[in-house]
Amino acid sequence: MTPLTPGSTSSIHDQFEELAAFNSDPDGGGITREVFTPEYMEAVDYVSGLMRAAGLDVRLDEFANLFGRLEGTDPDAPHVLTGSHIDTTLNAGRYDGVLGVLGAIAAVRELAAGGVRPRRSIEVVAFAGEEPRFVAGCLGSRALTGSLARADLDGLHDRDGVSLASALLDAGLDPDRVGSARLDPRTIHCFVELHIEQGGVLERRGVPIGVVTHIAAPHDLLVTLRGEASHAGATPMTLRRDALSGAAEAALELERLALASPGGTAVATIGVLRARPGAINVIPGEVELEVDIRDREIGTRTALVDGFTQALEAIAARRGLELEITTITRDEPAACSEIVVDAARRACEELGVKHIEMVSGAYHDAMVMGVDVPMGMVFVPSVGGISHSPLEFTAPEDLDRGVAVLAGTLAGLTR
Ligand code: GLV
Ligand code: MN
Ligand code: MN
Repeated sequence: MTPLTPGSTSSIHDQFEELAAFNSDPDGGGITREVFTPEYMEAVDYVSGLMRAAGLDVRLDEFANLFGRLEGTDPDAPHVLTGSHIDTTLNAGRYDGVLGVLGAIAAVRELAAGGVRPRRSIEVVAFAGEEPRFVAGCLGSRALTGSLARADLDGLHDRDGVSLASALLDAGLDPDRVGSARLDPRTIHCFVELHIEQGGVLERRGVPIGVVTHIAAPHDLLVTLRGEASHAGATPMTLRRDALSGAAEAALELERLALASPGGTAVATIGVLRARPGAINVIPGEVELEVDIRDREIGTRTALVDGFTQALEAIAARRGLELEITTITRDEPAACSEIVVDAARRACEELGVKHIEMVSGAYHDAMVMGVDVPMGMVFVPSVGGISHSPLEFTAPEDLDRGVAVLAGTLAGLTR
């Protein structure tokens, strides 16, 4: 872990390597850098150094969102915000989020090297906590858009039971000041996020750039089924209230409902299942499921959530289980702004780069920022469509092309 000294101008490719060293992955095979951990805060320091080296004025807000500002010739004009996140999920890859931050710094450097002095200021941002360490994602952008309240910081917990409030305290931040992170949307012209695709559409189509037009959004649920824990040997099959068997039925029903969703774009995942007490000779008395249901259309997503809720009620009634369903997050699918889509399209055309327009199935901070300000995204290919995995990879030339398209997009948006 050798942080760059200010003034250093290593290439973006070296920077991916250097950032990957801020890692707590137990076997080192992937990257685990969850928000507000010591390795995360060290990575923030490292990126601050890169921002300073690129000539940006650096600011860390009350929620550890990191900003680097390049003043434009018209400092009072609403600025263009660009960036992504440097936290990761568990055992992840090197590119998710990181490209949008390192790429934005590189794009600003590219503009400066080309003699471009933008009229509007540009701010590069590394949002804190896009990945769901605290079950809800995009926390930094929620703080910036005023949708993260002080009470949420006590209510959200990670898998070890650490509250968001205490994680902030451990990172040297004051949870009572989260409200001060709120940005005035009138000061922002638009937001643009460069990101790896995390799916296989660009690779399959043989196109190097995706200009995003819509972002699908999740409705996430915490489902608890309660039955009766009892002896696995002594309790006959007909006398059980097995919460895990109910959960298994619910999981298959969710898959069936998502496959049958009429739009054909719904996806549903049970990414977390906790069966208690968790002993081989005890019937599971309680199961918790974390359920992620997404679609680009709010109507079909709502119908899927309603259908799953009814299925859970029927399963619970038939099996004599208690059922509790709470919403973790419910975001609106977001349409990208024409000003950003158009600037990205033009940048591709000026560079002679082939592109397609596409929908993002993953959520991003852009989805949350879009509530407040015009936003858009640019995608580069993910090899094999793989992401949230140590195998996540984007070819160096695709990274460079993404940076060039972002630089062109910023040039257009800051005129
Ligand atoms: C973001 O990481 C997502 O889960 O879409
Ligand atoms: Mn991710
Ligand atoms: Mn991401």
